[in-house]
Amino acid sequence: MEPSTPEITIPEKSKVKVFENGPVRVLGPCEITLADGTVVEKPNGISFCRCGKSSNLPFCDASHKTNGFIG
Ligand code: FES
Repeated sequence: MEPSTPEITIPEKSKVKVFENGPVRVLGPCEITLADGTVVEKPNGISFCRCGKSSNLPFCDASHKTNGFIG
């Protein structure tokens, strides 16, 4: 099953960093609306999984460090 794409609200001028062989990280506060409508506040930023193997999708749980993800 394909993971759903969350709706993310980030303040103007926020930064997003793509880590080599790792997640996409929103640097700074953001609000995320999940596919089921749940709104999650992340005042200190959050990392999103790119490898698809996190047990907490759409968030990164560091599984990429041990599953051989390249990307
Ligand atoms: S990128 Fe970290 S668990 Fe997938």
